[in-house]
Amino acid sequence: MRKRFLVGLGAVAAVTVGVLTLSSRASDAQQPAATGPAALTPSDSSSYKGPKQPIFFRHDIHAGQLKMECQYCHYSVAVSSEPGIPSMQTCMGCHLAVAGKDSTNRAEIQKLKDAWNEGKPVEWVRIHNVARHVHFPHQRHIKAMGPNACANCHGNVARMPQVFQVQNVNNMGWCINCHLERNVTRDCTACHY
Ligand code: HEC
Ligand code: HEC
Ligand code: HEC
Ligand code: HEC
Ligand code: HEC
Repeated sequence: MRKRFLVGLGAVAAVTVGVLTLSSRASDAQQPAATGPAALTPSDSSSYKGPKQPIFFRHDIHAGQLKMECQYCHYSVAVSSEPGIPSMQTCMGCHLAVAGKDSTNRAEIQKLKDAWNEGKPVEWVRIHNVARHVHFPHQRHIKAMGPNACANCHGNVARMPQVFQVQNVNNMGWCINCHLERNVTRDCTACHY
């Protein structure tokens, strides 16, 4: 395990581009063709890694095909410890107008509109979680590693039809290895209080 982390992190230090390639390859098993997001239905989601969500919201369409910035939706990632899951307002800015081009997309977008009309926020299933005794400040990482650092820890989300955990983030060895590699504090009280 330790060796694998170190090998991975060696690659991070060597070429960031290499890591992006690696992480996209690591998740290729569930990728649609490189020509663009495939037509998928929510029933396909059970064959993908990661939890099934109440709406089949696709990062490979929004962040991939449409090239939306991560921070358009996860707007607090650079300023707070929590990146934030977007409010329905953020979605409806487009989806009051965008209804979807095929019946699958229309049906999923309709679920969003129904939730909006009923005033019930969508209950997204949380995927990444560190233990309660651990403090993880996103903003410090984004500040030091840049706005495109997400892939270091989350893999190539822009190609995922359904988000899954590429790294087990609730793992002290993983945190410590990168902190060692980048000469960042390993003081217990930085992460635990
Ligand atoms: C159009 C809005 C939107 C954009 C753009 C977007 N996301 Fe998301 N993201 C969401 C929503 C909604 C969820 C919750 C549902 C899900 O997990 O798919 C989410 C979930 C996630 C999660 C899982 C959170 C958890 O529960 O642990 C990660 C990681 C993530 N996004 C990273 C990214 C990255 C990296 C980018 C840019 C490449 C990005 N997102 C772009 C809306 C967006
Ligand atoms: C900047 C505009 C924009 C924003 C913001 C946006 N979308 Fe979309 N969304 C689109 C477009 C364009 C499509 C493609 C529609 C098509 O061609 O069928 C789409 C497709 C979809 C689809 C069908 C494809 C899929 O992903 O399964 C769903 C569901 C969806 N959006 C949900 C959401 C949710 C939930 C949010 C907020 C977290 C959101 N969208 C935010 C523009 C947007
Ligand atoms: C150094 C590793 C690292 C980087 C870089 C990173 N994340 Fe995370 N991310 C994590 C960890 C660890 C968690 C779990 C945090 C927790 O449970 O408090 C997480 C959780 C999340 C969540 C779910 C938390 C929530 O509020 O629901 C989202 C969304 C997310 N990250 C998006 C992003 C985006 C977008 C970027 C890039 C702008 C990014 N992350 C960069 C490690 C990272
Ligand atoms: C991919 C590399 C990487 C990973 C993985 C990583 N970190 Fe970091 N961490 C950094 C960098 C770079 C900084 C920024 C140091 C700075 O601000 O100069 C940092 C800073 C921090 C800080 C602020 C330290 C201070 O000086 O106060 C905390 C707390 C922290 N990380 C916790 C974590 C935890 C908890 C995890 C695992 C869940 C983790 N980190 C995983 C690279 C990483
Ligand atoms: C860079 C962040 C970071 C630093 C520094 C750090 N830890 Fe941790 N620690 C974590 C994370 C993440 C977990 C959660 C993983 C888990 O619970 O198994 C954890 C878990 C633990 C646990 C609980 C293990 C369990 O089985 O529940 C103990 C005890 C612990 N750390 C002690 C320490 C001590 C002592 C130090 C200083 C020598 C330290 N940690 C430094 C991130 C860190």
